[in-house]
Amino acid sequence: MRKALFLCSYSLLILSFLNLSCTADKEETIIDLCGIENISFSLDIEPVLDASCINCHNSVNANAGIALDSYEDAKDAANSGQLLGSVKHEPGYSKMPPSGKLDSCEIVRIEEWIDKGLPE
Ligand code: HEC
Repeated sequence: MRKALFLCSYSLLILSFLNLSCTADKEETIIDLCGIENISFSLDIEPVLDASCINCHNSVNANAGIALDSYEDAKDAANSGQLLGSVKHEPGYSKMPPSGKLDSCEIVRIEEWIDKGLPE
């Protein structure tokens, strides 16, 4: 039992070191993996929202007052923090879309779009 506990905490220690050494270039790697370059609303974000969100979030039927079928409205949702909070399933936000999480590159694209200042 003792030995098992020791092994266990030892591997946790190693794991946390590995994790530390990865964080520096982690973001860049994910962005490379997802093939993100010159991010823009029309090329990278609009297709995701069109496919997964606008049925329930458009100017006619805006659940929770959120419309995502135009650049201006999507920008408002991004600026309020709700867009990212909901797709990342962060505490305090409704989990979106209701059918399950977007794929991780789609989420990274949304995050990168926000980081880059919401280019149109
Ligand atoms: C099947 C319908 C449906 C789809 C598809 C859908 N939503 Fe929603 N969404 C809702 C409903 C209903 C609410 C309000 C009730 C709730 O919060 O659960 C909501 C709430 C929200 C909110 C407000 C959440 C908050 O806590 O402030 C955001 C932001 C949002 N959705 C974004 C999205 C995004 C982004 C997508 C696509 C990735 C999406 N939704 C897809 C139905 C949907």
